[in-house]
Amino acid sequence: PLKAVAAMAGQGPQTLEELNRLIAASEPLTPGANRAVLGEGPMEPAVAFIGEQPGDQEEREGRPFIGPAGQLFDKALGEAGIDRSSVYVTNAVKHFKYEPRGKKRLHKRPNPGEVKRYRWWLQRELSFVRPKLVVAMGGTALLGLTGKPPSVLKTRGPIAFDGQPGYATVHPSYLLRLPDDAAQQEAYAAFREDLIAVRRLMG
Ligand code: URA
Repeated sequence: PLKAVAAMAGQGPQTLEELNRLIAASEPLTPGANRAVLGEGPMEPAVAFIGEQPGDQEEREGRPFIGPAGQLFDKALGEAGIDRSSVYVTNAVKHFKYEPRGKKRLHKRPNPGEVKRYRWWLQRELSFVRPKLVVAMGGTALLGLTGKPPSVLKTRGPIAFDGQPGYATVHPSYLLRLPDDAAQQEAYAAFREDLIAVRRLMG
């Protein structure tokens, strides 16, 4: 933590590794979920996908998008012809925020102040990773990328983030929360169409 403070007092992290060390040493959102889940994937990728925050399983294993939402994301990526190992995957917020409920840890959405606290880090992260295209999945990612809370459904489609080519779509967990199968299937098909549009933009 002392080193982290010193780095912040200077000109800030100069590499992704330095940035990741700062994030890993920062205060979690919920005590007990101390592990920061960092971005994963190659540098200078064709695309970087931004989610909301790690979930229960992600926090336990320290990797983004490996739980139920991650599995749905992987399936849609595969069907859209995008190889996950060729893309960068990260979250707008790097810590798991939850409410204890018996033995379970129930996901709690980060509030706008919390998303803004991580925003500078997200911007630095992307400046090191240098993706050609940035994809926001869901409202928290959009808030983290733009600093404003635009509606996902209205913003859906191609968008520029500070002059950087981007694309906005829904978050895969949104699909899991829809009440019935028909609604889920329809929303999943639209999500997959978005990923197909992303693959075309990847060139
Ligand atoms: N949801 C997210 O937004 N990110 C993850 O890493 C997992 C679930």
